[in-house]
Amino acid sequence: MIMKGNNAGILGTGFYVPEKVLTNFDLEKIVDTNDAWIVERTGIRERHIAPDDVPVSELAYQAALKALADAGTDPDELDLILVATLTSDYIVPATACLLQDRLGAHHAAAFDLVAACSGFVYASAVAAQFIGSGIYKKILVIGAETLSKYVDWEDRNTCVLFGDGAGAAVYGPVEPEHGMLGFDLGSDGSGADYLGIPSSGSKHPVDEKMIAQKMNRIHMNGKEVFKFAVRVMGATVQRSLANAGLEKGAIDWLVPHQANIRIIESAAKRLAMPLEKVIINIEKYGNVSAASIPIALAEAAGAGRFKRGDIVALAGFGAGLTWASCILRWAKEDS
Ligand code: ACO
Repeated sequence: MIMKGNNAGILGTGFYVPEKVLTNFDLEKIVDTNDAWIVERTGIRERHIAPDDVPVSELAYQAALKALADAGTDPDELDLILVATLTSDYIVPATACLLQDRLGAHHAAAFDLVAACSGFVYASAVAAQFIGSGIYKKILVIGAETLSKYVDWEDRNTCVLFGDGAGAAVYGPVEPEHGMLGFDLGSDGSGADYLGIPSSGSKHPVDEKMIAQKMNRIHMNGKEVFKFAVRVMGATVQRSLANAGLEKGAIDWLVPHQANIRIIESAAKRLAMPLEKVIINIEKYGNVSAASIPIALAEAAGAGRFKRGDIVALAGFGAGLTWASCILRWAKEDS
């Protein structure tokens, strides 16, 4: 699968994290854990936490404003807003619709997409299809999460891992051979039980019994998710590269999902990439699910790490189970 039609590239990026920082040392006071264990087993040192009264749409809005400014795009130019999140303000309406109104994106369609930590890459691939077909020109893609609101703060197996934040990118048509050159999306629903929020929808509606059993909190089989992640991360990037007609050595930058430093290192090894070419910010933000990749992307782009023409690979995995990767030839002028 070589991408056909107009090439969709990133015109601008932005990210936002809430001010409050929760360090590993802070967590030591909440659960039976310690900084040394968390750093050694995950690579995380601190994470940002949204105030109780701040919904995910607020984080998404702040990231969107930055991406639009970076792209020089007026909200009125947007044809579509896609929000990848598993912590939307409501089950309905979609967070994307709230943003459409708040941004004043008067001509934009809007919907949310749930693919957990793979969500931003899934949404980017959707955006590339609409731009590739010529139907839409400017699409705002956001990954945003407030996982702190769903964490069981008494469960040391999960509460040390997650953080809050949002990252955004504006996609639009770019010159040939640039932008998204290939992608790979996948799912394995047989692993649905390994990671999720059991009482969060129509199967087990939230009630007092569910709350008492903490079924409205994140439940995870960390070992199984770890094994799955190590298996799929390198493999999905290799499939994306093949789809783009490129060899393994072509990647200049890998932007992986930031769930565990050991998973990132194993993906880099499989792709024969030195860690200097891998964008890693897990120590500052933890796992921000759908927001991890766009935050890392925006932070690296903002620091001027990508040069025009660089091959940038995005790769994620998450609940579902899902995985996703894509290959971009960086189209934006050097900042
Ligand atoms: N502090 C101290 N000790 C801990 C902690 C903690 N925070 N958490 C677990 N331990 C203990 C365990 O209880 C266990 O003790 P025991 O041997 O006495 O039973 C010991 O440490 C080892 O536990 P393991 O689960 O074997 O630890 P592991 O090295 O596998 O690391 C981890 C656990 C970090 C969760 C790892 O399995 C992992 O990262 N898995 C992937 C998770 C992931 O990526 N999830 C997100 C997916 S993205 C999405 O869709 C949201």
